[in-house]
Amino acid sequence: MKEGLTVLYSEKELQDKVEELAKEITKDYEGKDLLLLGILKGAVPFMADLMRKIDLDLKYDFMDVSSYQGSTSTGEVRILKDVSESIDGKDILIVEDIIDTGNTLSYLKNVLFNRGANSIEIVTMLSKPERRKIDLDVKYNGFEIEDNFVVGYGMDYDEKYRGLPYIAILDESMYK
Ligand code: IMP
Ligand code: MG
Repeated sequence: MKEGLTVLYSEKELQDKVEELAKEITKDYEGKDLLLLGILKGAVPFMADLMRKIDLDLKYDFMDVSSYQGSTSTGEVRILKDVSESIDGKDILIVEDIIDTGNTLSYLKNVLFNRGANSIEIVTMLSKPERRKIDLDVKYNGFEIEDNFVVGYGMDYDEKYRGLPYIAILDESMYK
Protein backbone atom coordinates (compact mmCIF):
# COMPACT_ATOMS: atom_id res chain seq x y z
CA MET A 1 0.00 0.00 0.00
CA LYS A 2 1.21 3.49 -0.84
CA GLU A 3 1.90 6.01 1.86
CA GLY A 4 -1.00 8.37 2.65
CA LEU A 5 -3.62 6.27 0.89
CA THR A 6 -6.56 4.42 2.43
CA VAL A 7 -8.37 2.10 0.03
CA LEU A 8 -12.04 3.00 -0.41
CA TYR A 9 -12.97 0.64 -3.27
CA SER A 10 -10.81 -2.31 -4.27
CA GLU A 11 -10.14 -3.32 -7.85
CA LYS A 12 -12.67 -6.16 -7.47
CA GLU A 13 -15.37 -3.84 -6.12
CA LEU A 14 -14.82 -1.44 -9.02
CA GLN A 15 -14.96 -4.21 -11.62
CA ASP A 16 -18.17 -5.61 -10.10
CA LYS A 17 -19.70 -2.15 -10.23
CA VAL A 18 -18.64 -1.69 -13.85
CA GLU A 19 -20.35 -4.96 -14.73
CA GLU A 20 -23.55 -3.91 -12.96
CA LEU A 21 -23.63 -0.52 -14.71
CA ALA A 22 -22.81 -2.06 -18.10
CA LYS A 23 -25.74 -4.46 -17.80
CA GLU A 24 -28.16 -1.62 -17.12
CA ILE A 25 -26.75 0.44 -19.97
CA THR A 26 -26.90 -2.50 -22.38
CA LYS A 27 -30.58 -2.95 -21.57
CA ASP A 28 -31.44 0.77 -21.81
CA TYR A 29 -29.57 1.50 -25.06
CA GLU A 30 -30.67 -1.47 -27.15
CA GLY A 31 -31.57 -0.14 -30.61
CA LYS A 32 -30.13 3.32 -29.98
CA ASP A 33 -27.18 5.15 -31.53
CA LEU A 34 -24.93 5.05 -28.45
CA LEU A 35 -21.91 7.34 -28.22
CA LEU A 36 -19.84 7.01 -25.06
CA LEU A 37 -18.26 10.38 -24.38
CA GLY A 38 -15.35 10.20 -21.92
CA ILE A 39 -14.14 13.30 -20.14
CA LEU A 40 -10.34 13.44 -20.13
CA LYS A 41 -8.30 12.50 -18.36
CA GLY A 42 -9.98 11.03 -15.33
CA ALA A 43 -12.60 8.93 -17.10
CA VAL A 44 -10.12 6.88 -19.16
CA PRO A 45 -9.81 3.69 -17.01
CA PHE A 46 -13.54 3.60 -16.24
CA MET A 47 -14.39 4.21 -19.90
CA ALA A 48 -12.05 1.45 -21.09
CA ASP A 49 -13.55 -1.05 -18.66
CA LEU A 50 -17.15 -0.01 -19.27
CA MET A 51 -17.07 -0.09 -23.09
CA ARG A 52 -15.84 -3.67 -23.07
CA LYS A 53 -18.69 -4.79 -20.84
CA ILE A 54 -21.50 -3.06 -22.73
CA ASP A 55 -22.88 -5.63 -25.14
CA LEU A 56 -23.86 -3.20 -27.93
CA ASP A 57 -22.47 -1.78 -31.13
CA LEU A 58 -21.29 1.53 -29.67
CA LYS A 59 -18.97 4.37 -30.62
CA TYR A 60 -16.74 6.37 -28.32
CA ASP A 61 -15.07 9.74 -28.24
CA PHE A 62 -13.42 12.09 -25.76
CA MET A 63 -13.64 15.70 -24.67
CA ASP A 64 -11.30 17.62 -22.44
CA VAL A 65 -12.70 20.52 -20.46
CA SER A 66 -11.40 22.82 -17.77
CA SER A 67 -13.22 25.03 -15.33
CA TYR A 68 -12.39 28.71 -15.45
CA GLN A 69 -10.24 29.62 -12.48
CA GLY A 70 -10.72 32.67 -10.33
CA SER A 71 -13.59 35.08 -9.96
CA THR A 72 -16.27 33.42 -12.05
CA SER A 73 -19.11 31.68 -10.25
CA THR A 74 -21.08 30.96 -13.38
CA GLY A 75 -19.70 27.45 -13.61
CA GLU A 76 -18.65 28.11 -17.18
CA VAL A 77 -16.11 25.69 -18.58
CA ARG A 78 -13.62 25.89 -21.40
CA ILE A 79 -13.47 23.18 -24.05
CA LEU A 80 -9.82 22.14 -24.50
CA LYS A 81 -10.51 19.20 -26.83
CA ASP A 82 -13.74 18.69 -28.68
CA VAL A 83 -15.37 15.58 -30.17
CA SER A 84 -14.12 14.62 -33.61
CA GLU A 85 -17.46 13.87 -35.27
CA SER A 86 -20.92 15.38 -35.35
CA ILE A 87 -23.15 14.44 -32.43
CA ASP A 88 -26.35 15.34 -34.22
CA GLY A 89 -28.96 12.66 -33.49
CA LYS A 90 -26.66 10.65 -31.22
CA ASP A 91 -27.63 9.13 -27.89
CA ILE A 92 -24.79 10.41 -25.76
CA LEU A 93 -23.69 8.84 -22.52
CA ILE A 94 -21.15 11.06 -20.80
CA VAL A 95 -18.60 9.00 -18.85
CA GLU A 96 -17.06 10.71 -15.83
CA ASP A 97 -14.81 9.63 -12.96
CA ILE A 98 -16.38 11.76 -10.24
CA ILE A 99 -19.00 14.47 -9.93
CA ASP A 100 -18.33 17.13 -7.36
CA THR A 101 -20.14 20.49 -7.72
CA GLY A 102 -21.76 19.33 -10.95
CA ASN A 103 -20.74 22.51 -12.76
CA THR A 104 -18.66 20.85 -15.47
CA LEU A 105 -21.30 18.39 -16.61
CA SER A 106 -24.19 20.77 -16.28
CA TYR A 107 -22.46 23.16 -18.67
CA LEU A 108 -21.43 20.38 -21.02
CA LYS A 109 -24.93 18.94 -21.19
CA ASN A 110 -26.24 22.30 -22.39
CA VAL A 111 -23.56 22.58 -25.04
CA LEU A 112 -24.32 19.09 -26.38
CA PHE A 113 -28.09 19.62 -26.39
CA ASN A 114 -27.63 22.78 -28.43
CA ARG A 115 -25.69 20.76 -31.01
CA GLY A 116 -28.63 18.46 -31.61
CA ALA A 117 -27.91 15.33 -29.59
CA ASN A 118 -30.93 13.06 -29.41
CA SER A 119 -30.42 12.27 -25.74
CA ILE A 120 -27.78 12.94 -23.10
CA GLU A 121 -27.28 10.95 -19.93
CA ILE A 122 -24.44 10.62 -17.44
CA VAL A 123 -22.60 7.66 -15.97
CA THR A 124 -20.12 8.35 -13.20
CA MET A 125 -18.14 6.00 -11.00
CA LEU A 126 -18.31 8.33 -7.99
CA SER A 127 -20.41 11.21 -6.81
CA LYS A 128 -20.15 13.57 -3.83
CA PRO A 129 -23.80 14.61 -3.36
CA GLU A 130 -23.01 16.93 -0.41
CA ARG A 131 -20.86 19.08 -2.65
CA ARG A 132 -23.41 19.62 -5.42
CA LYS A 133 -23.95 23.28 -6.32
CA ILE A 134 -26.27 22.72 -9.23
CA ASP A 135 -29.10 20.29 -9.86
CA LEU A 136 -27.82 17.57 -12.16
CA ASP A 137 -29.62 14.44 -13.29
CA VAL A 138 -27.19 11.51 -13.07
CA LYS A 139 -28.72 8.36 -14.52
CA TYR A 140 -25.99 5.84 -13.64
CA ASN A 141 -24.04 6.28 -10.43
CA GLY A 142 -21.43 3.82 -9.21
CA PHE A 143 -20.91 4.92 -5.62
CA GLU A 144 -21.94 7.96 -3.59
CA ILE A 145 -19.15 9.06 -1.27
CA GLU A 146 -18.58 11.56 1.51
CA ASP A 147 -16.60 14.71 0.95
CA ASN A 148 -13.11 13.21 0.94
CA PHE A 149 -10.42 13.77 -1.66
CA VAL A 150 -9.98 10.54 -3.56
CA VAL A 151 -7.43 9.31 -6.09
CA GLY A 152 -6.84 6.32 -8.34
CA TYR A 153 -8.80 4.68 -11.17
CA GLY A 154 -8.16 7.79 -13.29
CA MET A 155 -8.35 10.37 -10.53
CA ASP A 156 -5.31 12.39 -9.61
CA TYR A 157 -3.70 14.70 -7.14
CA ASP A 158 -1.26 16.87 -9.08
CA GLU A 159 -1.34 14.30 -11.93
CA LYS A 160 -0.27 11.47 -9.60
CA TYR A 161 -2.10 8.23 -8.75
CA ARG A 162 -4.22 8.03 -11.94
CA GLY A 163 -2.90 4.57 -12.81
CA LEU A 164 -3.94 2.84 -9.58
CA PRO A 165 -6.47 0.04 -10.18
CA TYR A 166 -8.34 0.92 -6.95
CA ILE A 167 -9.79 4.11 -5.46
CA ALA A 168 -8.27 5.48 -2.26
CA ILE A 169 -8.76 8.42 0.07
CA LEU A 170 -5.73 10.69 0.01
CA ASP A 171 -4.67 11.61 3.53
CA GLU A 172 -4.85 15.36 4.17
CA SER A 173 -1.22 15.33 5.29
CA MET A 174 -0.31 14.67 1.65
CA TYR A 175 -1.63 18.01 0.41
CA LYS A 176 -2.01 20.35 3.38
P1 IMP B 1 -17.28 19.41 -10.82
O1 IMP B 1 -17.50 20.31 -11.98
O2 IMP B 1 -17.10 20.21 -9.55
O3 IMP B 1 -18.36 18.38 -10.66
O4 IMP B 1 -15.87 18.76 -11.07
C1 IMP B 1 -15.67 17.40 -11.19
C2 IMP B 1 -14.20 17.17 -11.50
O5 IMP B 1 -13.37 17.61 -10.41
C3 IMP B 1 -13.91 15.69 -11.65
O6 IMP B 1 -14.08 15.27 -12.97
C4 IMP B 1 -12.46 15.62 -11.19
O7 IMP B 1 -11.61 15.90 -12.27
C5 IMP B 1 -12.35 16.68 -10.15
N1 IMP B 1 -12.51 16.13 -8.78
C6 IMP B 1 -13.53 16.36 -7.92
N2 IMP B 1 -13.36 15.71 -6.77
C7 IMP B 1 -12.20 15.02 -6.89
C8 IMP B 1 -11.48 14.11 -6.02
O8 IMP B 1 -11.87 13.80 -4.87
N3 IMP B 1 -10.32 13.60 -6.51
C9 IMP B 1 -9.86 13.89 -7.76
N4 IMP B 1 -10.50 14.71 -8.60
C10 IMP B 1 -11.66 15.28 -8.18
MG1 MG C 1 -12.81 14.82 -14.46
